[in-house]
Amino acid sequence: MRVVLSLGGSVLAPELDGERVASHAAAVERLVRDGCDVGVVVGGGGVAREYIETGREMGANEVALDRLGIDVTRVNARLLRAGFGEVADPTLAADYETAEAALGRGETVVMGGVTPGQTTDAVAAVLAESVGADLLVYGTGADGVYDADPAADPDATKSDRLSPSELVDRIAPMSRDAGASAPVDLFAAKLIERAGMRTVVLDGTDPDAVADAVLTGEHTGTDVVPEGGAEPSYWAH
Ligand code: UTP
Repeated sequence: MRVVLSLGGSVLAPELDGERVASHAAAVERLVRDGCDVGVVVGGGGVAREYIETGREMGANEVALDRLGIDVTRVNARLLRAGFGEVADPTLAADYETAEAALGRGETVVMGGVTPGQTTDAVAAVLAESVGADLLVYGTGADGVYDADPAADPDATKSDRLSPSELVDRIAPMSRDAGASAPVDLFAAKLIERAGMRTVVLDGTDPDAVADAVLTGEHTGTDVVPEGGAEPSYWAH
C-alpha cells in the first residue's frame, strides 16, 4: 500500500520537542515495516506564521512571505527526518519529481512546501495523485471535518464519511470566513475531488492512531470516499 501522510506543523512541532518528533518518525517507520511506501509532507505551523507575520510587517510581498513559509516547512521536514532510525532513512525531497523517483526506488520520502501560493495540504494532494497513492491522510489539529467551526459553534457536527464533492462544499464556506480555519484547505479539497482520491482527515496528535488508521482504516476522523472507490485492498488483510 502506498500512502501520503500530511502532518501539520502544529501537530509535529507546536513547540520543539524531540520526543514528539521522534514518535511521529517511529509511527512512519512502523508503516514502512508493515510494507507501506510512505511519503510524508510536513507543514510549518505557528513558527511559519510568525515568520510570515514578521515579514509582512516589514512590507514583504506575498510571494516572499510564502517562500519564508516554505523554508520553515522544509526545516520541519529535516527535523522529522532526523527522528528516523535504521528502518527507513528517508529521502528529503524539494519537488514532486524527486519524491516520485525516490518512492519508485522503494525509499521513504519526507518533504515540505514546493511552490508559493498554496499550503502543504495541496502539496500532499498533488504528491498523492502523482505517485498513485492508495490513501491520502491528513493528520491535523482538528479531529475530522465538521459542518461548522466546532470552536465557535457548540452544535457543529462531525461527518464520519463524505464524498469528495461534499468535502469541497463543506470547506468552501469555511475558507471564505476570515480567520476561520478549515481542517484541509479548499485547493487541496478540489485536488482530492478532481483525482477521486481516497482520503482520511483525522487528529494527527497521536502518531500511533495515525498509523492505525493507515493500516486498518479504523479511526475517529472523517473518511472521504470517492464514488465507486474501492477500499484500499490492504485493509482486507
Ligand atoms: P503550511 O502548509 O504549514 O500552512 O505552510 P498552514 O495552513 O499554516 O498549515 P498548518 O498550520 O501547519 O496546518 C505554511 C506556509 O508556507 C507557505 C504558505 O504561505 C503557507 O501558509 N507555503 C507552503 C507555500 O507557499 N507553498 C507550499 O507549497 C507550502
